[in-house]
Amino acid sequence: MLSRRTLITSAASAAALAGVGYALWPGLDGYDDAIARQRHLLSGDPTRQDLLRMATLAANGHNTQPWTFRLTNKGVQILPDFTRRTEVVDPDDHHLYVSLGCAAENLVIAARAHGQNCDVSLDVAQGFPVIDIRLSAGQPDDPTLYKAIPLRQSTRSAYDGQPVSTEDLSLLQAAAKREGVDVLFFTEAAQLETVAEFVVAGNSAQMDDPAFIAELRDWLRFSPDKAVQMGDGLFSICSGNPALPEWLGGRLFDAVFTKDNENAKYRDHVRSSAGVAVFVADKANPAHWINVGRSFERFALQATALGIRNAHINQPIEVPELRQEFARWLDLPDRRPDLVIRFGRAPALPMSLRRPVDSLLV
Ligand SMILES: Cc1cc2nc3c(=O)[nH]c(=O)nc-3n(C[C@H](O)[C@H](O)[C@H](O)COP(=O)(O)O)c2cc1C
Repeated sequence: MLSRRTLITSAASAAALAGVGYALWPGLDGYDDAIARQRHLLSGDPTRQDLLRMATLAANGHNTQPWTFRLTNKGVQILPDFTRRTEVVDPDDHHLYVSLGCAAENLVIAARAHGQNCDVSLDVAQGFPVIDIRLSAGQPDDPTLYKAIPLRQSTRSAYDGQPVSTEDLSLLQAAAKREGVDVLFFTEAAQLETVAEFVVAGNSAQMDDPAFIAELRDWLRFSPDKAVQMGDGLFSICSGNPALPEWLGGRLFDAVFTKDNENAKYRDHVRSSAGVAVFVADKANPAHWINVGRSFERFALQATALGIRNAHINQPIEVPELRQEFARWLDLPDRRPDLVIRFGRAPALPMSLRRPVDSLLV
């Protein structure tokens, strides 16, 4: 999303201007402690709350964590939390349902790694889809993806420009495979240039939209204190930017980013990537969007297991007119492309926080 990119450039320049930096922030211990409490694997026989913590570590739009959970007789349910909608960037709740799918997949992977079978279905009795997961005894699954859950992150930095091997591409493709979802890979320089132009066009449109910027700004966190207090949102250090007092971060965000800088950064991000994966479901409805989330989360975990980073560059699919043009470029004019993901190698950035499971049970 445009403004996250925006934030990166603006906060970095702002920090340089202000002489304030990540390393100089006095209180990151509390943040690091909170991360350590949340991001660890399960020991022994996991409870359902343990499995739900794994679910919360999933990717989700703007880190709004648009979910609540219900413990049932046979397992758990994942419900949409419509109070956490992002109605400007996501007016039809596409990202919200993709995020629920990501959470469901983490839970299923963690449960199966611990020898629990999962039967996943959609319950629409309440007038909207609820993901119902029934747990039963089974055999432990291969733990590769499970072990990657606490380590997976969205890495919004330039990558090293090196290609990913065909073996690794095959593993990514196999991990993402899911009925009803196609994943298209682009690794040629000319293709990446075209994707970059779509990203720049979408970024430009979003930056010109004050409602988009205002919505994004609501989810930005500049200080560790606010990040820990809220346990959600987009904390600047997770995008490679400095921690700042909230008042300063907000002013700098408003003041210093420019469309040109952001677009240049996005071009650089795409050009430095080994490739781009585009997720396209057969149909455009919540059930398919949940499946896209499940497919993407597996892709991201497999990438993490291979030491490959990924980040969303969804601008081409967030601006409706551009999305149609992008679908034509994909040669899928009658379908709705769901996610655009770049991947490649780079050092990790700081991890993002989640809200505690206890506060999410309904
Ligand atoms: C449906 C969906 C859409 C997303 N869109 C973007 C995006 O456009 N730009 C971006 O930088 N990150 C995007 N993200 C990544 C989230 O911001 C990220 O998952 C969240 O902040 C949590 O951080 P983590 O992935 O590092 O755990 C998206 C994630 C999902 C699931």
